Amino acid sequence: YVAELDSSDIEKGTYPHFMLKEIDEQPFVIRNIITKYKDDNESIKLDENIRQAMAEADRIYIIAAGTSYHAGLVGKEFIEKISGIPTETHIASEFLYNMPLLSKKPLFIFISQSGETADSRGVLVNVKKLGLPSLTITNVPGSTLSRESDFTLHTFAGPEIAVASTKAYTAQMAVLAILAVDSAIARGVKMDFDPLQELAIVANAMDIFTNQKDTLEQIARDYLSLSRNCFFIGRSMDFHVCMEGSLKLKEISYIQAEGFAGGELKHGTIALIEEGTPVIGLATQENVHLNIRGNMKEVVARGANPCMISMEGFAEEDDKIVMPKVHKYLTPLVSVIPLQLIAYYAALHRGCDVDKPRNLAKSVTVE
Ligand code: G6P
Repeated sequence: YVAELDSSDIEKGTYPHFMLKEIDEQPFVIRNIITKYKDDNESIKLDENIRQAMAEADRIYIIAAGTSYHAGLVGKEFIEKISGIPTETHIASEFLYNMPLLSKKPLFIFISQSGETADSRGVLVNVKKLGLPSLTITNVPGSTLSRESDFTLHTFAGPEIAVASTKAYTAQMAVLAILAVDSAIARGVKMDFDPLQELAIVANAMDIFTNQKDTLEQIARDYLSLSRNCFFIGRSMDFHVCMEGSLKLKEISYIQAEGFAGGELKHGTIALIEEGTPVIGLATQENVHLNIRGNMKEVVARGANPCMISMEGFAEEDDKIVMPKVHKYLTPLVSVIPLQLIAYYAALHRGCDVDKPRNLAKSVTVE
């Protein structure tokens, strides 16, 4: 059985778990998104009203929960760096009761796989009361958030069944990259980054990881079979992916895991490092990869068991995983795949219920 995208596809096929199937579907999802967002001239196809709303905004507020929040952190980087619009990403449940000062012409972007998360919906209700514009990025176009917001962008990931979100996360980031570039072009920003072309390279790079399951299973065994905890360190874009990688591991394997900004370690967290503590380092950003290597040396000196993930072009000999080169903005879409697979195999070897972890629900419709 080969993973293929089909919106009616809610069967596992020969896969032992939905999560593994959904991890494997990611290259297909990205190729699907490229097709859906491309017009006949190979340019970005996007609703003119959304273009207009992005053009009018003086600041963007991204609102989300869980994994979608982590996609929102990467989305902020895209929108600020590519389109030049100041952007803030907020946890929905925090924003709901502690709203920051708003700009004069804000645009709210809700990111939600299900489109039903009560915390995000609560914010949308308030945004509508204030008469402010809203866009929902979701995998379920008929969902509550989609219906109640002004505009919707579909992530086209197909049904996601496993509670731990995988393909929805990469799909959200792909759509955010397309949105950021589209609004940059609309604002007259000179653009040498074609997201449709670059995402095709991303899909091929994803394929390489989904075909390296044995290696990643072995890493999960070596590092996590007996561990009580695990740390993920990274800087800039990599830091956001570390937060998502640690969330995946926590959710399904119940190993205490945290994602940290590499430079912040010495301000406290390094006290937690003991002999044998697994530390996964992400170094896919050329401007900070040496800094993260320095941070890794600091934890190794305290006994940590290091697993470095880097990218072609500035990889070093001891790196455990080297990902193929992709555009520097799009590394999160690829670097998260080994983290998803490591979490999957760690959970499997610990005998956990991968698709239905304890205490969690796929869609949280209560506050
Ligand atoms: C739940 C799920 C998470 C998900 C979060 C946000 O807590 O267990 O996997 O990331 O909700 O869901 P949404 O559908 O809004 O993306």
